[in-house]
Amino acid sequence: MDEIQVELLSEELEEIQIKSDCEEAAEEIHIKSDNDEVDDDYSDITLRLLDLSDIDDFMVWITDEKVNKFISWEPYTSKEEALNYIVDFVIPHPWYRAICLKDRPIGTVSVTKNYGNDSCRAEIGYFLGSKYWGKGIMTRVVKMVASTIFVEWPHLERLEALVDVNNPASQRVLEKAGFQREGVLRKYYIHKGKPIDMVMFSLLSTDSPVNYLIYS
Ligand SMILES: CC(C)(COP(=O)(O)OP(=O)(O)OC[C@H]1O[C@@H](n2cnc3c(N)ncnc32)[C@H](O)[C@@H]1OP(=O)(O)O)[C@@H](O)C(=O)NCCC(=O)NCCS
Repeated sequence: MDEIQVELLSEELEEIQIKSDCEEAAEEIHIKSDNDEVDDDYSDITLRLLDLSDIDDFMVWITDEKVNKFISWEPYTSKEEALNYIVDFVIPHPWYRAICLKDRPIGTVSVTKNYGNDSCRAEIGYFLGSKYWGKGIMTRVVKMVASTIFVEWPHLERLEALVDVNNPASQRVLEKAGFQREGVLRKYYIHKGKPIDMVMFSLLSTDSPVNYLIYS
């Protein structure tokens, strides 16, 4: 091999090395972009009214099998059914909010009021698309609701939540948000045709977590 051939060969090798470095770098960038979601910031959570233009996002969690396990009604299969639900139930509801991540709905939370002698209490209910479970989102949301609902509805003495005994994640959310576990109501509710036991949780307007949330 003469000197020129050696030089050409070493240039070729250098080119191959640069190419392989570039491919590795490209692969790394690809891996990073795949992981973007994992590293995402889940703290930008806001609550706002849900409207008909949110239908595509609404369909994501309303047809989510994991969420449906805890919904008492038959799951919606068509957009039309879901639109009717928004028009007939969500829009006229006294307190129904979309849970938004960076202003995009990913779930819902509602507070249902009572009337007459029962008006001192209201019930909170919530659903979150399964893709977002386990990131602290619902705990944050329940705290947000607790910090505003007693101000918005000054007559309210008690915010309560009824949870299936077989739904430990929801029970944990309420405990983390400062609710008190009051006890199990046996065969309290018909869920998908079967009577189930429910756990009763409550937060009073005078409980310390509420004062902490409102005044801190
Ligand atoms: C229940 C639900 C709202 C929880 O929302 P989320 O944003 O995932 O809740 P968070 O991340 O704030 O907290 C979940 C807690 O439950 C815990 N948890 C989850 N699955 C659990 C299980 N199988 N057993 C025990 N604890 C569990 C988590 O570890 C976490 O607690 P930690 O912070 O102490 O570790 C959500 O799973 C959901 O929408 N489920 C379907 C609808 C539903 O059940 N609605 C409530 C009806 S009452």
